[in-house]
Amino acid sequence: MQDDIDRILFSETQILEGIDRVAREVTGRFADRPFTVVSVLKGSCIFAADLIRRIPIPLELAFVGASSYGGGTVAGDLSVNFFPAGHEIEGRHLLLVDDILDTGRTLQRLKSELLGRGAASVSTCVFLDKPSRRSVELEADLRVFEVEDLFVVGYGLDYAGRYRNLPFVGALRQEIFSAPAQDAPGPGRAT
Ligand code: XMP
Repeated sequence: MQDDIDRILFSETQILEGIDRVAREVTGRFADRPFTVVSVLKGSCIFAADLIRRIPIPLELAFVGASSYGGGTVAGDLSVNFFPAGHEIEGRHLLLVDDILDTGRTLQRLKSELLGRGAASVSTCVFLDKPSRRSVELEADLRVFEVEDLFVVGYGLDYAGRYRNLPFVGALRQEIFSAPAQDAPGPGRAT
């Protein structure tokens, strides 16, 4: 698996230092109100797990499932597979947590759906931000790192379902994603 990585962009140590900083920002932002962290599956589960354990104030945890079909490294149509239950959304202040903000379409859609379902507010927090790729008007309220326009994997981020378990973030070697996926599991990609 590590042989497929061109270079490491963020080491495990750098990642945890960055998350410590953002956890302090989240703590300050929500110190005066109860809130719920909504982790976008699957990609943000590792980030969300590390983030919430560094936030020393009460919070609840919920999940939303989104997939973009199109396969490989190209985002296709977005489908939202499931939402938190109504009582987890209505009247609650939500912190929507995702692995990477790329075009912005995923977070824009989820934010508007959660507000439409009665959330009191929706703030956004992303592990990685690729501002050069944005196609909609949306900026994250909080972010750990900015990345250049490379396809990145590890620390929850996948290519064809793989590499999520790498403890660092790395750029995938070009030949891995330019070759047709041989035995990649299923079409599309869970975000
Ligand atoms: P949008 O374009 O909606 O994309 O902001 C968000 C989702 O796209 C996926 N994505 C990536 N996944 N490496 C990945 O493993 C990348 O470089 C990358 N860029 C976008 C990701 O699932 C994210 O939630």
